[in-house]
Amino acid sequence: MPAITATTPGKIILFGEHAVVYGQPAIAVPVNQVKARAIISPGIGQPSGWIYLQAPDIDLEGTLEDIPHDHPLVIAIKEVLQETGIEQPPAMIVRITSTIPVAAGLGSGAAVSVAMIRALSEFLGVILSDERVSQMTFEVEKIYHGTPSGIDNSVITYQQPIYFSRGDGTNSPQMEIIRVKKPFTLVIGDSGIPSPTASTVGDVRKAWQVNKTVYQELFQKTGRITEQARTAITKGNNELLGPLMDANQELLGKMGVSSPELDHLIHAARETGAQGAKLSGGGKGGNMIALASPEIAHQIAGALSEAGAVRTIITTVE
Ligand code: MEV
Repeated sequence: MPAITATTPGKIILFGEHAVVYGQPAIAVPVNQVKARAIISPGIGQPSGWIYLQAPDIDLEGTLEDIPHDHPLVIAIKEVLQETGIEQPPAMIVRITSTIPVAAGLGSGAAVSVAMIRALSEFLGVILSDERVSQMTFEVEKIYHGTPSGIDNSVITYQQPIYFSRGDGTNSPQMEIIRVKKPFTLVIGDSGIPSPTASTVGDVRKAWQVNKTVYQELFQKTGRITEQARTAITKGNNELLGPLMDANQELLGKMGVSSPELDHLIHAARETGAQGAKLSGGGKGGNMIALASPEIAHQIAGALSEAGAVRTIITTVE
């Protein structure tokens, strides 16, 4: 039995984070410069049912029994075994590596789950549809996020720019792959401040519960910005995207999810000639993104590093 490898990209939210949890649409794109990888190889000489996990990036190593039962990797493995109906799988070593920073809004959790679910199901001789991989990843996400919208598992499974709406709870999520008419360049800057999405989503929920009218309006305004951005991207009106990013950032600030460090990076990007900039993901830390003409993308990345970014990535959305 040969080793099986599955690799997935990270992601950024272009428009609509947080509002998407409340039924508004959002746009997300894959980031191929960072990757999560799952490699499953046979556990030679070991009895069937033996599963050995290695995740050196998070200092995790041991047999399935040694690792807490509620660990996302264990849950993902169990989901695949249940899905495939295989109770005693052949002995295997599951190795997970990732260059996607954790708690940074780049989708590391969903990417690891997608890679694991794809590699393990293939190792067991079952090919799952993208839809099923995305749903199973969503189940893992729910345990860790509380109330994820489903956008992270979707963009990482399909590895394409997507327009996503979870709906209002009475209808099923809507996901469309966005055809980008004219490619555009983004500079991603990491504030270096870890910010688990579950906690920012929880903070927004508490604030929404106290002031539903105000938050509902912020979410609706965000939704309208996302709709305009989707039209701009599909028509190639990229000059509209920068101002829309700035408008989205203003609403995110009002939702309480920006931070002085993110504001500082966003300001540095705009000062260096970015056409627009905003935080991306849960906020209060993690990453920000800036829209840049390709000629000055490196200059903006340099300005972000000088302003305190611990990592910058230049990526093209196409
Ligand atoms: C996380 O990438 C985006 C949030 O909107 C949470 C979610 O949609 O699950 C903050």
